[in-house]
Amino acid sequence: MSVKPIFFALDGKSLKEFEKQLDILKDHIYGVKVGLELFTSEGPSCVEQLKSDGWVVFLDLKLHDIPNTVGQAATSVSNIGADYLTLHISSGQEALLEAVNKKSKDLNLLGVSSALTSKAVDSSTSKIVENEFQIAKDSNLEGVICPASEIANTTNLFDLIVTPGIRLENDLRGDQKNITTPKKAIELGAKYIVMGRSIKNNPSMVINELEV
Ligand code: C5P
Repeated sequence: MSVKPIFFALDGKSLKEFEKQLDILKDHIYGVKVGLELFTSEGPSCVEQLKSDGWVVFLDLKLHDIPNTVGQAATSVSNIGADYLTLHISSGQEALLEAVNKKSKDLNLLGVSSALTSKAVDSSTSKIVENEFQIAKDSNLEGVICPASEIANTTNLFDLIVTPGIRLENDLRGDQKNITTPKKAIELGAKYIVMGRSIKNNPSMVINELEV
């Protein structure tokens, strides 16, 4: 059975909402992503629950704060047992280094660029992303959250490239502007893709139809 390189974004208020999807997707996708909506609603227990159910958990908190706070939060997230954590590169190198120092070795840090995938790509996007990803590299982060348009320029810096803003050919874009298909993202060099709304209402499609 092949495991698809997908993090399913659990964007909702409770884990219970995703019971059916998680049941279907277990052993077919790489992991799940807990974002601000679920984490601020249910707290650390949802991560602990998912871990005890055997999931790889990506905690998408997009930390952006002073070095001491970012470092201490990285310790707390390590203690909850998450496998991946996001932090904003624009927090600055001192904050990133503090997180690297304070986390456990099992926690992978993913730098987030200020060019979120909900922003349109313009002439400044590549430059912003390139500069920020170099800071992430210099700070020894394990990987980055990379918008579709920048994957090809990033494979020389990171193996661990995670790409959100994924849409199937016939999907609504919603608030996402910098988008691509699952197959294309992986072909370009993403190691994992993040998919939320495209699979929430039809999780079986991932197993039966989705080409990645
Ligand atoms: O539903 P959809 O597939 O658009 O969900 C994308 C997920 O990826 C959301 O949880 C969103 O918070 C997250 N994300 C993103 N763009 C980033 C970083 C994270 O869309 N740059």
